[in-house]
Amino acid sequence: MSTTRDGTVGFENGKVMCVGLACVDFVNVVDSFPQEDSDKRGERYYWQRGGNATNNCTVLTKLSTPCDFMGVLGTKGAEASWIAEDFEKCGVSTVHCVRKNVQCSSATVILSIDSGTRTIIFYPRDQPQLTYEEFNKEFKGDFSSYSWIHFELTSNVPDVCNMMNAVLTCELREKPEFDCEELQEDSHSEREKVDTVLTMQASQRPIVSLEIEKPEIEDAEKSMDKADVVFISKDFAKSRGCTDAVEAVKKFQPICRLWATVICAWGECGAAASYLENPESLCVVTSPALANISVVDSLGAGDSFVAGVIHTLVRRQFIPGASLGQGGVVTERHKQVVEEAIVFGCKVAGLKCTMFGYDGIT
Ligand code: FRU
Repeated sequence: MSTTRDGTVGFENGKVMCVGLACVDFVNVVDSFPQEDSDKRGERYYWQRGGNATNNCTVLTKLSTPCDFMGVLGTKGAEASWIAEDFEKCGVSTVHCVRKNVQCSSATVILSIDSGTRTIIFYPRDQPQLTYEEFNKEFKGDFSSYSWIHFELTSNVPDVCNMMNAVLTCELREKPEFDCEELQEDSHSEREKVDTVLTMQASQRPIVSLEIEKPEIEDAEKSMDKADVVFISKDFAKSRGCTDAVEAVKKFQPICRLWATVICAWGECGAAASYLENPESLCVVTSPALANISVVDSLGAGDSFVAGVIHTLVRRQFIPGASLGQGGVVTERHKQVVEEAIVFGCKVAGLKCTMFGYDGIT
């Protein structure tokens, strides 16, 4: 079955793949953040599978969206086999992962109950990351088993960009029912021409999303024009001078693809999303955060938000490019779907903060 642009006909299989890093999180829960050089007693201690993309997978499967993980899995040490078992227990396939004889990454996390903060120390800093060559060798341009492919931006920006490009330009499931030549003539700028064609093809390939979280990744901005949906983290937006989610989506929209949807969550202030209704008019929608919650564990709240948004967009057969369809119907539906997605993302993230780990998310 294929998808029409008004979203009325069924879509492929609804399967998502998340590409990024995997680690084990060793979590210490303390009543308040420890003083340096002190000797403190903790409230709880446990470990769980971590890394943004693997957390996305965990939450997506809990929400019943089938999901695979792709990344490098270290095979050295006890943590390595524990991670593999945990993926299996959770129902996330790692069949496309690249196994390397390296230590599995780990993160030491301090969750402070009184402030609600999570402090993370990640090791090692030079863990091998998935390369474009490895990705290409695995799929050879055939992404037909996926409806959506999500990328976590890691420090190897050119590789992640090439991987996203490979999906954007992959072989289409069916020939789209529009005339590229005609569209190109109608378009105004070169950027509009290229992006209009790529976006009109989106119903015939997996949708590409990208999460940019780490402020320290140099050249992160260069990856923004490679995705249909771009998630910007609060930390990243703050490091680039933004003070709220609306300011962030407006700031980054111009360097994303013309028809991209840009999304930013801002903790207890909720989230915003933006997209162009037409080349002259930007639409911004917002969502409040889940109200009246008592935060016990904010580790992975951003990852849960991303999963909640993707889950909704996949279910609602979201296709980028609000005004590229048949008149106002698509534009109105686009707005509703984007709004619904960020509202649900905020709910999932809020709910996650009220519990330790992810097991209670259903
Ligand atoms: C949470 C998380 C943790 C991991 C760290 C990596 O968002 O993915 O699971 O330790 O961030 O930066």
